Amino acid sequence: MSLKVQGLFVIALLALLAVVLALDPRVPGYRSQYDPAATPAEVAKWARDLKAWRQSPTWHSFPQESPRPDFVGSYVFGKYRYRVDVQISGDRMHYISWGTDDQRDGGAWYAVGEGRREADGEWFSIWSCLDLSRAVSNGGGAWFDFSADRRRIHVRYYHDTLPFGDEPIELGEAVMVDLKPGEELAADTPYFESQWAARPPEGRVRTSVPALEISDGVPAVLWGRVVDESGNGIDGAAVKRRAAGKIESVTDSRGFFRINLDRIEALTLLTAGKLGYYNGIVTLEQDTAFRAIGPRGDSQKVALATITLRRLDTLDHRDYAWVSPEPTVGAAYTPDTHLSCGNCHRREHNHWRESRHASMATNSWVRAAFEKDAKPAALARGETEDTCTPCHSPSLASSLDHFHLQGKTLLDASGVHLRGNHCDFCHKIEAVPNIEANGVNGSLRLLRPDPNDPRVPGSIKRVFGPLPDVSFLYMGAAYNPMFSMGLLCASCHQNTHGGQHVQSTYSEWQASKYAQPGTMKQCQDCHMPQYTAGKVAMIAGPNGIAIPANVGGDLSGAEVQNDGVAIARFSTRFRPLHEAHKHSFNGTEDIDLLRSGVSMQVEQLPVADGLRVRVTLTNVGAGHAIPTGHGLKRYVLSVHGRADGKPLLPDTGLPADERVSAAASATTGTLIGRRFGDDWSNPYWREAQREDTRLLPDEPRVYTFDLPGAQTGEVKLILRRGSPGLIRGHGINPDSQAVGGAPLDVVVHTWQSK
Ligand code: HEC
Ligand code: HEC
Ligand code: HEC
Ligand code: HEC
Ligand code: HEC
Repeated sequence: MSLKVQGLFVIALLALLAVVLALDPRVPGYRSQYDPAATPAEVAKWARDLKAWRQSPTWHSFPQESPRPDFVGSYVFGKYRYRVDVQISGDRMHYISWGTDDQRDGGAWYAVGEGRREADGEWFSIWSCLDLSRAVSNGGGAWFDFSADRRRIHVRYYHDTLPFGDEPIELGEAVMVDLKPGEELAADTPYFESQWAARPPEGRVRTSVPALEISDGVPAVLWGRVVDESGNGIDGAAVKRRAAGKIESVTDSRGFFRINLDRIEALTLLTAGKLGYYNGIVTLEQDTAFRAIGPRGDSQKVALATITLRRLDTLDHRDYAWVSPEPTVGAAYTPDTHLSCGNCHRREHNHWRESRHASMATNSWVRAAFEKDAKPAALARGETEDTCTPCHSPSLASSLDHFHLQGKTLLDASGVHLRGNHCDFCHKIEAVPNIEANGVNGSLRLLRPDPNDPRVPGSIKRVFGPLPDVSFLYMGAAYNPMFSMGLLCASCHQNTHGGQHVQSTYSEWQASKYAQPGTMKQCQDCHMPQYTAGKVAMIAGPNGIAIPANVGGDLSGAEVQNDGVAIARFSTRFRPLHEAHKHSFNGTEDIDLLRSGVSMQVEQLPVADGLRVRVTLTNVGAGHAIPTGHGLKRYVLSVHGRADGKPLLPDTGLPADERVSAAASATTGTLIGRRFGDDWSNPYWREAQREDTRLLPDEPRVYTFDLPGAQTGEVKLILRRGSPGLIRGHGINPDSQAVGGAPLDVVVHTWQSK
């Protein structure tokens, strides 16, 4: 089985086509797939990579689902003697496969596959491959047709790794060899060579198969059923063709679905997902799966498909070890680090690591606020429950049995726990049963997999996600529609303490138009927007020669094809852009977001002496109050009057403590936020809320300020991370430009008198 067929490679293949067909015309419609470009040194390196991988915990464990399989066989396959070790139990098949190849940018690879016998006696399987030399991945499907004595397998397999529209199917024949599972074939085995000549050419790629357009107006129909492993229909499963951009059908109470098609691609990758199950996939070949039916036998093309979903076990396995988010760039891809999320999900990782979710466990302000303030204050009141760690160090919290202020707390985070809300953590959230509780302590429910589950290869075992059509076996992808809903975020962005809302971001959203049909926008739509593709334009390159370059957008031209993007490096076929979401969790450090959230209009009114300004602030773009959250953040509406070039003396509009940083010379102003106790410097964990002056969506708020004696005026709208007095009390200098990793103030809007 070969790896990483890329767009470029396909072009190279076209060039080779003529030669290949001339040399070897034995398989009509197929052409050779190999590109003997590697140097002997490269091939030797790949062989070493492959050997190192043999220490992998997945090497042996995956296929041994059944302790006593009905059949085991080792096969050698392809020009480069790929190995395929097959196990069959009843109508289920598992295999592992490994080898090196010298395709362009080749390398050593290791793959696993699982499948079933189909009605026609062929076996269909999904395979997923890890590139051991470069830490990339891909996958596809394979049809295995065993000879009667099972000593040969005729294999047809495809990659789902190409940009839209390309779907090579390869042909080959594997020959059984007399080896124990895992045992290596000696390099000079004559037995194997002697059989070579009799077999059809290996690794032939099918030449392009055009899609069948439906021209007579009668759409083709995909009928099918989604069933569990005992064959019972599954109600309400989402069904779509892979990367179709939307869910195309939902099963009825008996598991049936129907999808109309106006074209039939060479391959139709049909998938289904439902919460509580791993995703399932079947693949339909244009020429074998679709039959014409109807009175004349040609009126309508119909295919029947059954998609089997495997149930998740419902125990949260606490002994599961979190997989690191960090890519192992530059380092050797060892079995231990190969599945680090950032290796394949580069783009998601690049955005996430800049986000506050990645830094939350190391946030120095949170640590100080906890250690110097919240913890002693709670202990002084005789409370022992740690109400901070379950949200601020969720990964660590998930390893604790109880949340006790004198037990392990966020201050003890180490290792992967220091990565805060990391990929693996968030993607193992199954449900949010109680939005008002605190994160890991009762709000979100994790469903960590059995780390020894032999049926899912690799160490990740399971991720929940928004896509029912991910079949890469190492992911153990399980559809969870909650990932497209703000409810997921409510687990940490909404909570109640002592009868009062500490955070109400989610209920603020629920009360807004953004929770209404028609104007619906989930948290994700604003904080995890889809990627945008830049435009390709000609720019001046070196020596003044115009070169094409990507302008604007989040993605480079090379990353985007036909408005699609890969969500894992070298992974699957491209997806429509809206199936890929920026993991930036952009918030208060994103000035564009802040500006889009709140508008400011200022009018200067005539007065006898000095200036009067009327400021209208409107929350025009946030799906919740501005500011939202704990009540630590506030907006400072800072109004500055000047006469003879000097600032006017301040009045009492703004607490003296807040006249710092961007508001240092304020004459007057107001605070927009939540006041706890008498003083704007109290945090929620010490006092009850007394006042809430925040801006609710679409409710304009008007403020009028007088600046007697002023000749000129200035108005600034400042987002402030927290009370300077409170921050100082936590041992942090509020002017240090780094309060919990960000500046104290962000000036969002300014106005100046003419
Ligand atoms: C705060 C929780 C959270 C964290 C942390 C997180 N994700 Fe996600 N991820 C999501 C949500 C929510 C979606 C779905 C977004 C949607 O459908 O609107 C998603 C979607 C995805 C997808 C599917 C494609 C897409 O973009 O929609 C991939 C792949 C993914 N995440 C990988 C990662 C990786 C890798 C990391 C770490 C670098 C990560 N995630 C960190 C919540 C998270
Ligand atoms: C070896 C490469 C590789 C690694 C490492 C990897 N992934 Fe993936 N991941 C993939 C591929 C391939 C897909 C499927 C892409 C597609 O179908 O377009 C995927 C899909 C996903 C999805 C979407 C699932 C869905 O149903 O919505 C999520 C979420 C995800 N990965 C999270 C993670 C997390 C979290 C980690 C680390 C714990 C991780 N991945 C590590 C290759 C990888
Ligand atoms: C496990 C808890 C948890 C989950 C789940 C979670 N968050 Fe967060 N989020 C936090 C914490 C804690 C912070 C503050 C981190 C800090 O500033 O150090 C934060 C910060 C943020 C910020 C940045 C706020 C700022 O000050 O700029 C945004 C935006 C955000 N989250 C959005 C989301 C969205 C959207 C989701 C759902 C897809 C989500 N979060 C899910 C815990 C979580
Ligand atoms: C319609 C878009 C939109 C939706 C929906 C939305 N937000 Fe926001 N969010 C914003 C904007 C804009 C800001 C910046 C507000 C500002 O101007 O200060 C923001 C700010 C934030 C912040 C930073 C703290 C702050 O007060 O600025 C957090 C945390 C946050 N949002 C979480 C969420 C969560 C959780 C949800 C879902 C319950 C959500 N948001 C829904 C647009 C949105
Ligand atoms: C339900 C989850 C949750 C709990 C419980 C929680 N926080 Fe937070 N915290 C957040 C989120 C989400 C944010 C970011 C949104 C916001 O308020 O702006 C945040 C922000 C903060 C910040 C501001 C960080 C910054 O750099 O801007 C501090 C400080 C903080 N929390 C301290 C605490 C302390 C101390 C406790 C315990 C008394 C606590 N939190 C409990 C979720 C939580």
